[in-house]
Amino acid sequence: MRHIQDTLQATFERFGYAPLELPVIEHTDLYLKKSGEEIIARMYDFQYRSRRLCLRPEMTASVMRAYIDNLQNEPLPLRLHYSGPVFRYEKPQKARYRQFTQMGVELIGASQALADAEVIRLAYGALQALGLKDFRAVIGHVGILSRFLQNLKIDSRLRSFLLQNMEAMQKKGSAFVTERLRQIYPAFEDSSAQTMPRSQRLTALFQEMDEAEARLAVLDFLQNINIHLEGSRDADEIIARLLTKIRRRDQTPGLQSALRFMDEISRLSGSPAAVLPEAEKILASYAIDRSALDALRELVRALEHYGLGWEHISLDLGLSRGLQYYTGTIFEVHHGGLGEERQLCGGGRYDDLIATLGGLNDIPATGFAFGLERLHLALESEGGAKGGPQPLVRALIAAIDAQDFPYAVETAERLRAHGVPVELDVRQRSVKSNLQYADKRGIAFVVLIGPTERAAGEVVLRAMDTRQEKRVRAEEVYAAMQQMRGENDGQS
Ligand code: HAM
Repeated sequence: MRHIQDTLQATFERFGYAPLELPVIEHTDLYLKKSGEEIIARMYDFQYRSRRLCLRPEMTASVMRAYIDNLQNEPLPLRLHYSGPVFRYEKPQKARYRQFTQMGVELIGASQALADAEVIRLAYGALQALGLKDFRAVIGHVGILSRFLQNLKIDSRLRSFLLQNMEAMQKKGSAFVTERLRQIYPAFEDSSAQTMPRSQRLTALFQEMDEAEARLAVLDFLQNINIHLEGSRDADEIIARLLTKIRRRDQTPGLQSALRFMDEISRLSGSPAAVLPEAEKILASYAIDRSALDALRELVRALEHYGLGWEHISLDLGLSRGLQYYTGTIFEVHHGGLGEERQLCGGGRYDDLIATLGGLNDIPATGFAFGLERLHLALESEGGAKGGPQPLVRALIAAIDAQDFPYAVETAERLRAHGVPVELDVRQRSVKSNLQYADKRGIAFVVLIGPTERAAGEVVLRAMDTRQEKRVRAEEVYAAMQQMRGENDGQS
């Protein structure tokens, strides 16, 4: 884990990102504004001395809070990286934990595709530096669906339902999403219904009537079914409420069209050359402006400057993210060795989070975060960290008699000064148990010091892998260790 952390940090710093420390506890409010249902439902939040606080469920909002509180006078763009534990109340399973470690970056103050390309390049670079191979980055854009939904006159609640269900549409299909939709909007009729639903005809009629005529019609209708409102104090209000209800636009046609659009667009994934022309046709057929596609095209061009191979990257217009603050390009990195929870990294552009959280100006930003435990699992699935640091050769020093102990301390300190990690036997165990212990712990060398050695200014040095033993002068233990290692390496 430390190797992963060091590698990521070195990569981030090579691109000019500076470290930022953030608190684990934040005000719950920070996440209620923009993060979306999925994350809010998983927060560990609590009341403490009349304040509503939580354990951070992610770090981007914290970075933005820190930016607003302390960094707004910094020249832009600002490049920051961070690392630490985050908490989400989920059902624990393989690669899905309630506490896990995120490491990520935020690039604040640049709206250009070049900035998105830089952070994608950076994520890619971190994976390469770790030596991972079986990964794939997928890039999408939340603007395609959200522009489409803006044109339709559907409730904001249904709009955010659709935005959240893009992934479900791609993975589980239209029938699954329709079923889910019916749970929150039972009036939904799917396109197989031939006749115009009755409610819609009534709605249309009442929308055309002027106010007085509509009120009379409602009153008339109520009288016909023996409900008499005259004289009732609340009559006006009751009629007004009934009218609002009847006139409320039926959401079905808009929803049908949205589901069709989502179904078509979510099928588009692959190389830019395959996806972009198809997407263009679909957007033209629905008369949607193509700014999101243009942004993607620019990003593709910028990524090509970095020479990243499309064998590891693809476009996926059905991609959606659990967090709701994204406004533009979004991306994820998936790994083949992770199973269900295949996402190693997630990120994207969020241009209105700073303003929503109370920043002075509208500041665009983009970034991503890795899940460290998942990186570790991915590395293991590929056979361990390639090019990781060699484990240091360790030594155990044991005094045979209590009187030999100061001499053992001296030898230990001498080896430590050479940078060798040394354990000292503080339990005064027998030679046999010290050797067993060293074997179990994988300690490479044991240094034994008894009265005879002490008297001669020597120690016994034993290499645990070959069982080879040597008597050497106390000042020369380090050199002797190096020599024995060299001999062993030569043999192997
Ligand atoms: P996220 O996709 O929610 O994005 O989380 C980032 C990464 O954290 C995921 O790709 C995954 O590797 C890891 N992760 C998420 N949940 C768990 C879990 N329960 N157990 C283990 N690992 C997990 C964010 O949090 C955004 N703040 C990323 C970002 C930065 N967007 C813009 N800037």
